Amino acid sequence: MKVLGFESSCDETGVALVETRADGPPRLLAEALHSQAAMHADYGGVVPELASRDHIRRVLPLARQVLADAGCGLHQVDLVAYTRGPGLAGALLVGAGVAVALAAALGKPALGVHHLEGHLLSPFLGDEAPDFPFIALLVSGGHTQLMQVDGVGRYTLLGETIDDAAGEAFDKSAKLLGLGYPGGPALARLADFGNPEAFALPRPLLHSGNLDFSFAGLKTAVMTQARKLGPNICEQGRADLAASTQAAIVDVLVAKSLRALQDSDNCRLVVAGGVGANLQLREKLDAGAKRLGAHVYYPPLALCTDNGAMIALAAALRLQHGLADLRRDGAFDVRPRWPLDEITAPATAGIGQAADATQPAHPL
Ligand code: KG4
Ligand code: ZN
Repeated sequence: MKVLGFESSCDETGVALVETRADGPPRLLAEALHSQAAMHADYGGVVPELASRDHIRRVLPLARQVLADAGCGLHQVDLVAYTRGPGLAGALLVGAGVAVALAAALGKPALGVHHLEGHLLSPFLGDEAPDFPFIALLVSGGHTQLMQVDGVGRYTLLGETIDDAAGEAFDKSAKLLGLGYPGGPALARLADFGNPEAFALPRPLLHSGNLDFSFAGLKTAVMTQARKLGPNICEQGRADLAASTQAAIVDVLVAKSLRALQDSDNCRLVVAGGVGANLQLREKLDAGAKRLGAHVYYPPLALCTDNGAMIALAAALRLQHGLADLRRDGAFDVRPRWPLDEITAPATAGIGQAADATQPAHPL
């Protein structure tokens, strides 16, 4: 079964084709991505109206490219998936509209996918797929959550940020340091040249006794330090502040993730979302998990940030587990705000716990 997936929730237009397999997780056949980062850089953040217009320009050429790269005709597509939410309403509508129209024209079903479910399941696109159950650390520009994942569609929230997301903390701190948008990767690059102990920044909620996060105070502390250093801050000072900021964010993410592993007696941690591309985070999580006898699974580096492959994958896995709410009537909506627990199946649903439950439970 071939699933064509569209992602357009924010500032990346992603399209990908995956194929289900009887003996393993779905396989990625081709994917294409256009990042709008350069377009939004001048504004220091995403401008929703510009994002929607750019998705319109990019989406069909990217779809053509994916099908050509996979050597696949449109008529061979069995299901068309799209990000239904959460995200920017106008941007979501572009991907959803194109996907549903395409499905209707082909006489094939369409499926709206939860963006965070795409991130959560994205390690199945890596060389090493985890078994269920696992703990997931979801760290993106808009979300910071720890989740217990018992199977496809079986997600329990263990803790989340009470204010800013980890990606936001990276982005806002980067802005204070005069780095471009998106700031996370730029701050991480600058941090390589700095001393992480140069500034004593707070580790919010580190000892809170629960699995919640808070990053707003950290941003304020970075702002205070940046002001103290003044506009003529030297290169080494900027690098030291970048390294100290990254260390503070990473320390909290690592401590809470390891705590979640210990509390649940789980030996598998999955890291997903854009901040999962941070190499310092990966290094510290790997080392910490090793001490606990646990293993950390990541999506391929290029698939940490938003992409179409994770949307096509999540749709394919839902299909295989009989959890796909397929639409064939050409009707659709988007969910700019969409709590993940709304798509979580009740524990009694009898959903296969193993990643190899790959026989289509819901044939098209
Ligand atoms: O998952 P994603 O692409 O989009 C959302 O769903 O939000 O995540 C984007 C976030 C941005 O905040 C970006 O700065 C951050 O991920 N990010 C990083 C790195 N690469 C991306 N943060 C720290 N280090 C990185 N290497
Ligand atoms: Zn995302």
